[in-house]
Order: sequence, then structure tokens, then C-alpha cells
Amino acid sequence: MARRTVVINNRGGVGKSDVTLRLGAALAKRGRRVGLLDFDPQGNLSRRAGWTYNEDQPQITVSEAVQADRVGTMGQVWTPVRWDVEYAARMRLAPAWLELENRYAEAGLAGAHLRLAKSLQGADDDLDDVLIDCPPSLFHLTQMAFAAGDGVLLVTRAEIDAILGARRVREFIADKRAALHADDLRIDGVVVNDYEQGKPRQRQQLASVRRIFGDLVWEPIIHRREIMANASNDHVPLEQAKGSQLHGAVAGFELLADTYEKRTAA
Ligand SMILES: Nc1ncnc2c1ncn2[C@@H]1O[C@H](COP(=O)(O)OP(=O)(O)OP(=O)(O)O)[C@@H](O)[C@H]1O
Ligand SMILES: [Mg+2]
Repeated sequence: MARRTVVINNRGGVGKSDVTLRLGAALAKRGRRVGLLDFDPQGNLSRRAGWTYNEDQPQITVSEAVQADRVGTMGQVWTPVRWDVEYAARMRLAPAWLELENRYAEAGLAGAHLRLAKSLQGADDDLDDVLIDCPPSLFHLTQMAFAAGDGVLLVTRAEIDAILGARRVREFIADKRAALHADDLRIDGVVVNDYEQGKPRQRQQLASVRRIFGDLVWEPIIHRREIMANASNDHVPLEQAKGSQLHGAVAGFELLADTYEKRTAA
């Protein structure tokens, strides 16, 4: 069974999807078999990993896997990441698109929040890591992810609303873990993303993150780099993105992958 990490903040736009994708790539580079699970109806992770929904050739996505409410259905969803780099052979995507919104309407069904866990049962045994990219919400989709996950990775910017959003997630889990069947779920860490160097306000807010989350804050901090946004815009690996600062961006995620391995080792 893979190690399942839920990537989340209650605040939108902090870089959850980018951190999921680039950390996943860095883990694959070091030989790990990585599943990227898009659990956001926006489908941003899926698009950035090179996937598009084709109405003429409907594909099974995470939405149908979850709706089925049966063991192992995610096994039919995994699709190769079609990036032209060697390590993409070790990356797999469970894609999502707008259709996933329809699962919210089923939140009241008995046991509905266990459906993602059920769908993954036996369907991620040949992977080392599954990274689950959540919407900026604590409602049903994210609750399913908590019930399925082993750990939670909070992503934040050095900005007050994002920090408060991350703190709300931590409080929500502490409060609801029994109700969510997430008794063993742990907060693995906090990634500070999109950090703008040389700005006093950013420095102050980074200090707040460290004060609130202490040892949970992962090194390194991920800086704001245009190449990150370019790579995601053009749905390519970092190495093939337009722009400068490639080395810093790649090195940042390689070090973050180091931290991931240390923090999630049994
Ligand atoms: N370190 C960074 N440097 C520059 N741009 C970044 C960085 N991290 C993320 N971005 C860009 O910022 C935008 C928002 O990031 P992203 O979509 O990953 O956030 P999110 O938290 O997943 O958003 P949502 O809440 O909508 O799911 C994207 O265009 C992304 O490429
Ligand atoms: Mg996102």
C-alpha cells in the first residue's frame, strides 16, 4: 500500500496543485513510484500533468471511481503521465474534471466520506506514494481525502489568510478526526510556497508560520519563480519550462523530496 498524503489548505491559490505536481515529480526522479490523484473538480493538476478530458472518448476519472462506492475502482482510473522525460514512467495520474462536483450532492449518503478510501483499496499497492490534491475547501471531497489519507501536507503562502486557512485545517482535523474515520491521520508538515524574498512583510509572515507550526515547517521554503507558473501554464515538466531560475526551482523540490522522505518514513 502506498503512503497517501493529502495536500490541502482551506485558502485557495496558495500552490497546492503546483506543490503536489512538482514534489511528485521530484519523488519520481529519485526512483519512487508516484500516483498523483486530482481530487479537485477544477482539474488543474490533471491539465498541468498533460491530461485533457475528451468528450468524444469519455474516460473514467476519480469521479466515477468514487461514485461506484466499491473496493479498488481507482485501479481503472490511473493513466500514464505523458511527459517527455524519463522519470514520468514512474508517475501516474488519477484525473478529475468538472464532473467531480456532482459527488458533493451525495455527501449525506451513509458512509459517503469513505468512498475514496474504498476506491483506493488494493488500487495503489504498486505505488510508493499517492499525493492527493484537494480543493480549497473542508467539505465532502476533502473529508473523503482525510478518511483515505495517512498524512496531511499543508501548503501555505507567507500571507495572513493562507496561514489562517492552514490553521483551520489543523483545527478541523483535531476536532473531527473520529467522525471522519481518520483517527491515525497525522499532519506531516507545512510547505511555505510562493515566497517573495526581500519583502519585510513576507519575512514577518514567515516568522508567524514558524511560530504557529514550529517543527512542522518543512525545508526548504519554495520561492516565487516565474518558471513555476510557466511550467504549469504550458503543462510541461519544470526542466522543459520557459524562463530562468530553472536550477533553483528544480533544486528546491529535490530538497523538499528529501524532507518528504525523512518525515514520512515509518
Ligand atoms: N512558487 C511559485 N512561483 C510562481 N508561481 C507559482 C508558485 N506556486 C504556484 N504558482 C502559480 O500560482 C498559481 C496558483 O497555484 P495553484 O493553482 O497551484 O494553487 P492552488 O492552491 O492549487 O489553487 P486552488 O485553491 O485554486 O486549487 C498557478 O498559476 C501556479 O502556477
Ligand atoms: Mg489547486
